[in-house]
Amino acid sequence: MRTRPLKVALLGCGVVGSEVARIMTTHADDLAARIGAPVELAGVAVRRPDKVREGIAPELITTDATALVKRGDIDVIVEVIGGVEPARTLITTAFEHGASVVSANKALLAQDGAALYAAAEEHGQDLYYEAAVAGAIPLVRPLRESLAGDKINRVMGIVNGTTNFILDKMDTSGAGYSEALDEATALGYAEADPTADVEGFDAAAKAAILAGIAFHTRVRLDDVYREGMTEVTAADFASAKQMGCTIKLLAICERAADGGSVTARVHPAMIPLSHPLASVREAYNAVFVEAEAAGQLMFYGPGAGGAPTASAVLGDLVAVCRNKLNEANGPGESAYTQLPVSSMGEVVTRYHISLDVADKPGVLAQVATVFAEHGVSIDTVRQQGRQDGFGEASLVVVTHRAPDAALSGTVEALRKLDTVRGVASIMRVEGE
Ligand code: NDP
Ligand code: HSE
Repeated sequence: MRTRPLKVALLGCGVVGSEVARIMTTHADDLAARIGAPVELAGVAVRRPDKVREGIAPELITTDATALVKRGDIDVIVEVIGGVEPARTLITTAFEHGASVVSANKALLAQDGAALYAAAEEHGQDLYYEAAVAGAIPLVRPLRESLAGDKINRVMGIVNGTTNFILDKMDTSGAGYSEALDEATALGYAEADPTADVEGFDAAAKAAILAGIAFHTRVRLDDVYREGMTEVTAADFASAKQMGCTIKLLAICERAADGGSVTARVHPAMIPLSHPLASVREAYNAVFVEAEAAGQLMFYGPGAGGAPTASAVLGDLVAVCRNKLNEANGPGESAYTQLPVSSMGEVVTRYHISLDVADKPGVLAQVATVFAEHGVSIDTVRQQGRQDGFGEASLVVVTHRAPDAALSGTVEALRKLDTVRGVASIMRVEGE
């Protein structure tokens, strides 16, 4: 074993960074044995230097992250600050100064992954980011390496722990949205600003990363269709239950049937209770991968939280340190297919639509005509008269698969009918 240690600098020592430092210290001997050299924590950059950081020598703490990455003797930078800047500049500066990078920063990778890969390659360094998608679950490496010889057609999963926690609480305990969000934040799942979680930006960033790796093409955050889950209501869950479904925030990346394009999207969807994703509870994540030769694979585990995320960071750290010792590099960007990313309108899906309609003759026929005019075939219709004495009924229509543009066009046309008093809920149906 080499006795001279590999030097690691930690940028950020919050929920994830503090766990990375703890594991590096407590498992130092095992890590050294697995890598073939000891690993030394050489510096820790934070914003608030006076905060007590258990287990970290005070002399390692600095607020000058730039000076730390420019030191020149650092072998690996672990970036767990988050956000686009200063993380982007710090990572590129690290490459320029001879350090490889392990990052958990999905927001940055989804926006600037290509430029970061290019900078890593230019300077002969590694860029690893297992923790950026689905926390502890080994997913990036299986897609990048284990399935590199196969053809992936679809990746569908629950990749945000906070929203899964909230939806699960709403479904199973009837908790309100705010109450469930507060609990998710207290448990360290939610980002500092939960907007990124609940509005689907976090899942969309992960979808962009997954689609890029799975389809060997460039997919950026802006290419991902995104709807959050803040408008999912107790009534939606009641409708889902009547259909034998629950509601999950799904990230879905697909190769088009003709293979000539891809799509990536994030939105709430009803899935049947019999589907394995329906039983993914609390802050757990799970991702289905459908590959031509391998068939269906499912990856499941904790998708957020300090220790689980640190596990993924440490796995990358070991891999990058081994590469350093071998003077080799891990895989870089693979974007050779250059497939275009199609818009949401071209995605083929199913809708569950709940309408409040006038309870009188001919209404059902009128509604059915609108579907037919848009080329959307109806699978089931359920009508229930209401007891409130206003001559209204609830009409629940579930469609067959159709392009999303045709489905949303149908809903717009339904809204214009005099006999349709309101559209109570629209939800896509997946996983059948
Ligand atoms: P935190 O907010 O808990 O920690 C951020 C850390 O960065 C803090 O230590 C903070 O310092 C430090 N920091 C912020 N700005 C600067 C700066 N300009 N210079 C130096 N240090 C700075 O975030 P998390 O640990 O939760 O997340 C870190 C990364 O991991 C993010 O990219 C996130 O998306 C990702 N991630 C997080 C998961 C989770 O469950 N939390 C799961 C998967 C990925 P100080 O301590 O002084 O405030
Ligand atoms: N806020 C994210 C989540 C952290 O809830 O999944 C993991 O990326």
